[in-house]
Order: sequence, then structure tokens, then C-alpha cells
Amino acid sequence: MHVAHLSLTDFRSYDTVDLGLEPGVTAFVGPNGQGKTNLVEALGYVATQSSHRVATDAPLVRHGASRAVVRSVVVRDDRRALVELEINPGRANRARLNRSPMSRPRDVIGLLRTVLFAPEDLALVKGDPAERRRFLDDLLVARAPRFAGVRADYDRVLKQRGALLRTAAQARRGSRSGRRAENDAGFAAAGAGDVLSTLEVWDAHLARHGAELLAARLELVEALRPLVAAAYAALAPGSAPAGLEYRGTLSTGGDGLSPAAVPPAEAPPVEIPSAEIPSAEISPAEISPGGGPATAQAVAGRSVIDRGVIEPALRAALLEVRNAELERGVTLVGPHRDDLFLGLGELPARGYASHGESWSFALALRLAAYELLRADGGDPVLILDDVFAELDTQRRRRLAEFVSSAEQVLITAAVPGDVPQELAGAWFDVAEGSVNRVR
Ligand SMILES: Nc1ncnc2c1ncn2[C@@H]1O[C@H](COP(=O)(O)OP(=O)(O)OP(=O)(O)O)[C@@H](O)[C@H]1O
Ligand SMILES: [Mg+2]
Repeated sequence: MHVAHLSLTDFRSYDTVDLGLEPGVTAFVGPNGQGKTNLVEALGYVATQSSHRVATDAPLVRHGASRAVVRSVVVRDDRRALVELEINPGRANRARLNRSPMSRPRDVIGLLRTVLFAPEDLALVKGDPAERRRFLDDLLVARAPRFAGVRADYDRVLKQRGALLRTAAQARRGSRSGRRAENDAGFAAAGAGDVLSTLEVWDAHLARHGAELLAARLELVEALRPLVAAAYAALAPGSAPAGLEYRGTLSTGGDGLSPAAVPPAEAPPVEIPSAEIPSAEISPAEISPGGGPATAQAVAGRSVIDRGVIEPALRAALLEVRNAELERGVTLVGPHRDDLFLGLGELPARGYASHGESWSFALALRLAAYELLRADGGDPVLILDDVFAELDTQRRRRLAEFVSSAEQVLITAAVPGDVPQELAGAWFDVAEGSVNRVR
């Protein structure tokens, strides 16, 4: 797939900008702070409805404006879709597909698929587990957009269960010290028994959504493992092998759910989206992953560990830690506490790998994500934000070789010499809020 058109209104530093784009390589080049990353960030937003740089939408809206609009024309298998997103910080965002309003903006997630490499990726290796959980979950959503709903459901349950636990923890502390603070009144009136039975209900929800997320993550890690190892070996030949292991809150219980005990997945069947679809426009029903709803079922049906096994295990684990949870007022078990362990040979990458090794690992994770999405059907758009400047000559060349086969590659660079010669293509100068095609 590729993006044929991008237009922005009041997005980041731009009041308006309008760009025609083509398949192949396109470079955006200009001095620091001129708005190169803002352009590719907008495309990333069309794909995921989130930014790779900030956790909230407010910074995406131009200072002084009240909303931003991102429009893009996505071409897939010679068919076009116009995706329009209105970003309204603090209020609901709106989405239109081919000029028809969508009842839920998240229903256009997955229509454009991007894999974005950025300097921030170093945090995948060096940062907190939350960075790696986000990597996995974003990839799940890109492969099967219904996971956006699964993730939202899980987060909602986690929040509500957390509120209940905090109330319970406060009430416990209050009753222990012989005081009854005003905000404990609800708890006292409801009685501890009621809190426990409400907790049972939230446990069931948490286990159900958590099991779905966890099963999908485990399966994803199995699929990623050989791809990451191969990509890392290609980027840094002769170095220690790169490994992945899902480390979950469930794996410590010795109940056989340890990811290490997961049998290696068979090579996942590659779903080819049904080819000849007569309509020239992409319809909402077709947005589901890669090109057809069939892929979503395949993703769900191939779970390495069955959700039916994980769900009761999660519930049991919640029961085991209940006292500690009531004491501390937080949910201590579930996929929100898990991590993706990255290893180089015998050593963990985090805390041990050199700067260059960490970079190669981060690139290998993104390259593996790209391979997976491509195998699902249709090349995602590759975005390389300021990446080549960070790499030595050998890694630059290897990355350039790899990406040259993609249907569309968008590159940003502050210095013209940072765009590898192998990747000659269209060229835009970006300066002082304007974007001009020079080649
Ligand atoms: N919401 C906003 N409103 C107005 N300006 C903004 C907003 N968000 C970011 N900017 C401006 O956009 C500029 C940054 O743009 P961007 O990150 O795209 O730069 P860049 O060309 O990628 O630079 P570098 O080469 O340093 O990566 C900054 O000058 C910043 O002040
Ligand atoms: Mg930048």
C-alpha cells in the first residue's frame, strides 16, 4: 500500500500543508525543528490514531488552534480510500472514510499500516517495560484492528478495578488507625463484604480481557522471535544472537504457563486477502487487518496458548495476590505488568548492550514487525525518521538494502548526506513551515 496524498490543517507547526506522494522512496530534508517529523507523525497518526512522540493529543494541535485535521489518500491494490481525522483534544475525535462519518474513529485504524523507525525506538531496548508492551500491542492492533477494542476494554477494567482497590485500601488503613475519613464513608457503608463481591466481578472481567490480550501477545512473540534474530544477525553479523522472551506475571507461578514452556509456533499461515474486489473504494467492512476479516480470525485462532487456559489461571493468580492488592490498592497481576525480555547471547540487552547494539536491536524489532505485517498481506508504508544519522556505514547500507524493496518509504533527514544514495527518489525541502518538492 502507499499514501498518495497528505494534507494537514493546524497539525503541529503547520497551518496548512498539502502533499502529493508516490510509491518508492521520498525524502524530507531540512534543518532541525522545521517540521519534518511532524509530517511523518501525522501519517503515523492516520495508521494508529496515536503519536510515537506524545501520549496525549493536545501537542498535535497547532498552538492557538482548537482542533487539527489530517487527511490522507491511501492506495491499496489500486483502490483508494480517503481517511479524514479531526483531532479534538479533550473531546471526542472524529473520523470520516470516503466522506462518510464513522461512528467510532477507531474503526478506520488499520486502513493505513505503517512501520515507523524513530530515534525514540532506542527506548524499546533501554526503556521501561511499558515501551515494549506498547510495541507488542501496537503491532497486535496493526495486524488485527479489533485488538484496539480489546486493549481499550482491558484498560477500562483495570482503571475501574484500581479505583475499587484504592477505596478498599484507604478504608482498611482508616479502620486500622481507628479513623474514618470522609472519603471512606462509601466503603464503610457498603461494607467490606460488598467490596469483595464487586471485586469478584471485576476479577472476571480482568481475566477475560487480560487472557485475550495475553494469548495474542504470546503468539505474537513466537512469530517475532525468528524474524528478530534474523534481522539482528543481518544488521550486526557475527555478534551474539538476539533473543526474545515474554516475561509475564503468570510465568512465576510454576503452573506450566511459563512462556519458556510454550511450544514453538508453526510458521503462521500467510493469509492472502481476497484479490478481485470490484468496488474501487475501500469500504469500512474491509478495513480489518491486512485486507480482509479472514486474517483477524486466523490471528485469533492461532493462539499459542489457549485463552481458555489463561483465563482461569489469571483468576487464580488474582485470588493469590488479593491481600497484597487490598493492602496496596493496585492490580498486581495481568498483562499490564508484563515485559518482553530482550537478550543478546547470555546477557539481557537492557543494561548490558552497547549503544550501537541497542540501536541494532531496536531496528531489528521494527524490521521484524514490518516482515510480519507484510506477510499478513500488503506492504506497510515504511517511515524512517532521522534514523540513518544514528548508524555506522555498514548498518546504513544494510538497512538501505532492506528497505529498498518496500512499496513506499518515507525518510526524514536533517543533512542531505544522511539519505543513502541507494535510496534516491523524490525529494522535498522542509523549511520555515513550507514543504517544497525539488526532485
Ligand atoms: N502544537 C504545536 N504548535 C506549534 N508548533 C509546534 C507544535 N508542536 C511542535 N511544534 C514545532 O514544530 C517544530 C518541530 O518540528 P519537527 O519535530 O517536525 O522538527 P524536525 O524538522 O523533525 O526537526 P529535527 O531535525 O530536529 O528532528 C518545533 O519548532 C516545534 O516548536
Ligand atoms: Mg525530526
